[in-house]
Amino acid sequence: MFRSRMEASAKKTGSNIILNLDVIHEDRGVLLRNALEVLDQTHKYICAVKVNRHLVLPLGLFDGVEKILDRAGELGLPKIMDCKINDIGNTNRVIARSYFQAGFDAVIVNPFVGWEDGLQPVFELANELDRGVIALVYMSHKGAWEGYGQTVHDPSKRQSRLQYLVFAEKALSWGADGAVVGATYPEKIREVYGVLGDSVPIYSPGIGAQGGDMEAALKAGSRYLLIGRSIIQSSKPDEAAKRARDKANRFLGRQP
Ligand code: XMP
Repeated sequence: MFRSRMEASAKKTGSNIILNLDVIHEDRGVLLRNALEVLDQTHKYICAVKVNRHLVLPLGLFDGVEKILDRAGELGLPKIMDCKINDIGNTNRVIARSYFQAGFDAVIVNPFVGWEDGLQPVFELANELDRGVIALVYMSHKGAWEGYGQTVHDPSKRQSRLQYLVFAEKALSWGADGAVVGATYPEKIREVYGVLGDSVPIYSPGIGAQGGDMEAALKAGSRYLLIGRSIIQSSKPDEAAKRARDKANRFLGRQP
């Protein structure tokens, strides 16, 4: 299971940091080289790598991003695709299959599209292929309240509820391998942790460049911290990744 692969990786590397490998460069050859270089420099300090369209669009999935996934695989790192799958079921399945075929271990999905003919095919495919599905619950950016923070009518409970708490319950009942809650909203992490407990680990982006606080996120219940720009845009990504890992470990009480 993806969830146990993540736990094993965190244990082995002594790190709960996931690198957002959002490298940018106009020259595609340089982009690929730089992405591989950052991965090589930081791999000792991270437990997984997350890729987004920053790489998939310019490099292409097969041949381009696949080279990065192969390298991450050689380094023993789980690979997450931040694709926020968000379409009808048939299309969602095609999207997920391509990412899994390229070598991703897990995909991120958007629960707004619902289960039936929405995300059900993605969860089924992931189960078939022994891959993971991570569900958005509350995003890290400033406008997240407009969607994830809405008060909605929950027909199953016949009451008004907060959208993100409904999503947290869906992550649990759908058997998601993770739930994303921005580190920029520790109070939401705490509430979501109240729903999920230790059954579904919380993944928190938004530390550093977006202003989220690592200690507050971990105290509120985040398990994994996703960090991008503050590592990859640093003049020494290895040192920045090590600093992030060590800081998280101090809060977690993990010995160096
Ligand atoms: P940094 O650390 O550079 O990381 O701010 C940005 C990366 O993380 C993605 N991101 C998110 N992905 N849910 C997600 O699934 C979120 O709430 C979220 N917030 C940021 C962002 O797209 C980029 O890849």
